[in-house]
Amino acid sequence: MTTLFDPIQIGDIALANRIAMAPLTRNRATNSVPTPMMAEYYGQRATAGLIIAEASQISPMAQGYLDTPGIYSPEQVAAWRPVTDAVHAAGGRIVIQLWHVGRISHSSLLPEGAAPVSSTNQVANTQTYTRDGFVPVSAPRALRDDELPGLVADYRQAARCAIEAGFDGVEVHAANTYLLEQFLRDSINERSGPYGGSIANRARLLLEVVQAVSEEIGAGRTGVRLSPLTTFGGSAPLDSNPQAVYGYVVEQLAPLGLAYLHMIEGETGGPRKPEGAPAFDYAALRRAFPGAWMVNNGLSRADGLDAVASGTADIVAYGRPFISNPDLVRRLKEDAPLNALRADKLYGGGAEGYTDYPFLKD
Ligand code: PHB
Repeated sequence: MTTLFDPIQIGDIALANRIAMAPLTRNRATNSVPTPMMAEYYGQRATAGLIIAEASQISPMAQGYLDTPGIYSPEQVAAWRPVTDAVHAAGGRIVIQLWHVGRISHSSLLPEGAAPVSSTNQVANTQTYTRDGFVPVSAPRALRDDELPGLVADYRQAARCAIEAGFDGVEVHAANTYLLEQFLRDSINERSGPYGGSIANRARLLLEVVQAVSEEIGAGRTGVRLSPLTTFGGSAPLDSNPQAVYGYVVEQLAPLGLAYLHMIEGETGGPRKPEGAPAFDYAALRRAFPGAWMVNNGLSRADGLDAVASGTADIVAYGRPFISNPDLVRRLKEDAPLNALRADKLYGGGAEGYTDYPFLKD
């Protein structure tokens, strides 16, 4: 019987076990450039089968929060290198999540105070974190169709930068109400033309991005993350038919030979069966996808063991438990107690609550 602790080959990447560290925003970059502390942090967590490094903007226009890292400039590539080296030196594998926030941003974070860009010019009912603290997001500008090839090119270039920085691959962030989901959902995308209307049209940008990234670095080094039932407190209402939209997306991704598909089950960081959300058949999507299937969202040790043993997933991603337990894999294996999370140290700041969580003693 396969267990959480058994190795697995996903596309071109060989993992020592089936436990992934989920991508986690920690806001510890400086001017979009990773810092040496980040190499220590990720290196400490290298016993994960796979680390998915935090969401990182693919261009200056893709940023939505203060002090998140980028993966588009030579300076950033050079600064990510110690991170990937630290993980590889410890025998781990690490990919980076490619991020465009779309309308979840504020002009003060963007070049020349530009408006955020999206599928729509409707403002999201949410806030973001800037130099002035939490502020409502800015009204976005709907991208023109003729701007979308440039956007796809930005993803491609970021994927190239990721490989140059030593990452084993990338995860295309198509979840959590950011840009690619702003195109996917009919609750947000009200466009006409090739990128609006039908499900195929709304999925077009995501599929073009995955195609371009796969061409650039290899499908076997490319993963995709989806969150069919996430609303983030209602700031991004669900599609009118999530099963149809995400079923179509998975069906289109299925033949590409991707490294993995990463499914957030339920409301990100919240219930796996959100109140009021339609029933959703994740198993049907899984059956349609021949590659490695990764699940995430508040799973316990028992949930993770069961998911892999029963075959409902190939890989289990843990988020917050990995923040407070650098040796989470060992703790899960030994059923050891977990360190408590210091929730006030999640976003921004220094080493405290970042690189100072204790390892188990021998
Ligand atoms: C966040 O910065 O709050 C954040 C980033 C990426 C996500 C979700 C939340 O996917």
